[in-house]
Amino acid sequence: MQPISQVLQEMMKSNPELAQRMKDAKSSLESDPIEVLTKPSEKCPYRKCDGTGWIWTKDWSRQNKKDEIDEDGNLKRAEWMEKCQCHEQRLKQSEIDKKLDLAGIPMIFKDATVNSFDVNLYKDNESIETAAIAKKAAGNFVANYETLKNNGKGLYLFSTTKGSGKTRLVSSIANALMKVHSVDLAFIKANDLLTQIKKTFGDNTTSESEIIKSLREVEVLVIDDLAVEKKSEFAERVFYDITDYRLEHKKVTLFTSNKTIDNLDQIYKEGRVKSRVKKMCLEIYMPEESIRDEEAEKENEEYERLLFE
Ligand SMILES: Nc1ncnc2c1ncn2[C@@H]1O[C@H](COP(=O)(O)OP(=O)(O)OP(=O)(O)O)[C@@H](O)[C@H]1O
Ligand SMILES: [Mg+2]
Ligand SMILES: [Zn+2]
Repeated sequence: MQPISQVLQEMMKSNPELAQRMKDAKSSLESDPIEVLTKPSEKCPYRKCDGTGWIWTKDWSRQNKKDEIDEDGNLKRAEWMEKCQCHEQRLKQSEIDKKLDLAGIPMIFKDATVNSFDVNLYKDNESIETAAIAKKAAGNFVANYETLKNNGKGLYLFSTTKGSGKTRLVSSIANALMKVHSVDLAFIKANDLLTQIKKTFGDNTTSESEIIKSLREVEVLVIDDLAVEKKSEFAERVFYDITDYRLEHKKVTLFTSNKTIDNLDQIYKEGRVKSRVKKMCLEIYMPEESIRDEEAEKENEEYERLLFE
């Protein structure tokens, strides 16, 4: 077999164009020996990296040389990874994704947005109007969050009707706060919180105060279905503990409930929860019409067709 250099020489002799191209490549590498080895892809918004946030770069002038430190103290290498312009964005996005995962938003509302909250799903004109006002308030709340947060002002979404969209709308506000303002947020159903705390009574890995502490301190707290549970001194103490601290420290809290703020004292007898919630929230009325029932009706019609036709 012929050595490769000899093959190349013969190829170049018989093909002067190839010889010229190789000469050009060599001299261009000599004048600028740095080459980017990463193939840019559409996954990078700047079309510079392959979507990983890193760019693999090679210095041909250092090929086969050992790493060394020059007189300015810079490390000289033959190959290295450089951060792409999109690197910081990627870090931020993965932080947001982590927040979204940890927040505890109900699975079905993980991707819910304020924009996709559809006011035309309601049949009644009054409901459509009420929903439109609530939706506008939700959008403005997100847009003006930086101002509102300094005053610790939150929202209280109320309607007595089950399935009217309270949890749907509060979830979309929560999603937007995490995506747009990178807030740390915890979403919890009032009843689940009480159950979790009760579990700590017989367990010494977490304590009641740890759970309450984290909910007192989190930047934004969403309590879904406040005051739907049965009256108890225990529940009243838990919600007093949390709301008292958050009011005092001007922390934004969002609630949904099927009781008006004024009627909270039907469940929390002492009235202290009510007066705190009143101070820390603006009450938003949701329609008295159930989208859930309408959804169920439509779904069942489809099932019926499937089963009986
Ligand atoms: N405006 C809306 N746009 C899209 N879907 C909606 C809207 N309002 C309600 N829904 C849908 O209706 C169903 C019930 O909504 P949701 O769970 O938010 O009601 P709720 O008022 O929190 O009820 P409950 O008082 O029982 O907790 C959900 O499946 C939700 O996706
Ligand atoms: Mg709900
Ligand atoms: Zn990139």
